Amino acid sequence: MSNSATIEFEGKKYEFPVIKGTENELAIDIKALRGTSGIVTIDPGYKNTGSCESAITFLDGEKGILRYRGYSIEDLAEKADFLEVAYLLIFGELPNKEQLAKFDQDIKAESHVDEEMKKILDGFPKSAHPMGVLSSLTSALVAFNPSSVDVSSEEAMYNSIVRILAKFPVLVAWTMRKKMGLPLDYGDDSLGYVENIHKMMFKRPNKEYQKDKIAIDALDKLLILHADHEQNCSTSTVRIVGSSHAGLFASLSAGISALWGPLHGGANQAVLEMLRAIEEDGGDTKKYMAKAKDKSDPFRLMGFGHRVYKNFDPRARIIKKSADEVLGALGIEDPILEIAKGLEKEALEDQYFVDRKLYPNVDFYSGIIYRALGIPVDMFTVMFALGRLPGWIAQWREMRLRKEPIGRPRQIYIGENYRDFVALKKR
Ligand code: ACO
Repeated sequence: MSNSATIEFEGKKYEFPVIKGTENELAIDIKALRGTSGIVTIDPGYKNTGSCESAITFLDGEKGILRYRGYSIEDLAEKADFLEVAYLLIFGELPNKEQLAKFDQDIKAESHVDEEMKKILDGFPKSAHPMGVLSSLTSALVAFNPSSVDVSSEEAMYNSIVRILAKFPVLVAWTMRKKMGLPLDYGDDSLGYVENIHKMMFKRPNKEYQKDKIAIDALDKLLILHADHEQNCSTSTVRIVGSSHAGLFASLSAGISALWGPLHGGANQAVLEMLRAIEEDGGDTKKYMAKAKDKSDPFRLMGFGHRVYKNFDPRARIIKKSADEVLGALGIEDPILEIAKGLEKEALEDQYFVDRKLYPNVDFYSGIIYRALGIPVDMFTVMFALGRLPGWIAQWREMRLRKEPIGRPRQIYIGENYRDFVALKKR
């Protein structure tokens, strides 16, 4: 293999090193391109552009592989819990018992949220989208934890990390409880991380909290599946905001906003709304397949297609099985699951979808499980954010530890050339 690549432009040749990742991915390192040749590259949507070197998550879209720190998503979803996966993503290794216990204790020590934060939440109408509320609350947390911005030492960084891992689930639960008209509750330090999330979300004011193993296990698995996905839209946002040294919580708040969009995390809400609309319209999946293929119709089959997975999304396989298990165990017969299965079958056999390599992604099935667990539809993307939290933190931490420069892309200007100013009265 050649370890350099040449660009020829206006008769001159410029040579650039080719770098190789641990999974043999190749990249032309063009850091010196503009300095030596005066030209830049252009790649809207970054379909061909790596923004960083990263040791956190590996995925191979063609082969349908996803690994966190070298461990397969299948193994982690089956054998680890979410807190272990969070530790693995952030610090690089699976924790031993002592490390995990300390991590858990450090998080629990920070699990209160300043009571004043409730006033901010109070200011939102009940109809506010939970993603907007969560993003605002996460940003507001900076005001109550000003030291979280100064992360010049690894210890300060660790403190910010455990603080947000502790407080974020409280914000998630409060966001949902406000929407449902339930009193804002705190967790219980004697419970496990995900168990506590479940309690904070679902505890009824006049009832003893009942542990629900099926729900907690399903939630744990969903959070693991969403925990990281290398340089996607929201993660790149977290890294780029963090690259200005804006602080962890502010960077996460920006990541939440990026995740909100229906082409990214908002897809899980969009999938369920689409399935409900198809059901209300008589369940004619063929009609919606035709709409998805019609270029004059803006409708897209939500939950299908992925920027990177052009074979299958390994998370979708795990989650499909989990959806069947959870619904079976809870004794729920959901007509929406049948519509989803019908659409999947038709799409997998349809030439349009086959040609474009469009397969169900993780969000195609996650909403069905969230619905079965009693989570409101507009909270689905919030659940995604909760799962993605350790990934965002890990990526932010890596970016800071590697002392990456501020993210600042170039552009090619295509606007007006110089013009003389025309005074208002002459326009
Ligand atoms: N339904 C119908 N057609 C589709 C779909 C879809 N869901 N997705 C892509 N296509 C078509 C496009 O129209 C295009 O067709 P063309 O080549 O004839 O013009 C072709 O497939 C390629 O699509 P792009 O939009 O160029 O693919 P890209 O990689 O940029 O986008 C994306 C990927 C945004 C996920 C897209 O497939 C989509 O919009 N899917 C639906 C939304 C969704 O499920 N998002 C969740 C992503 S997963 C996540 O964020 C966790």
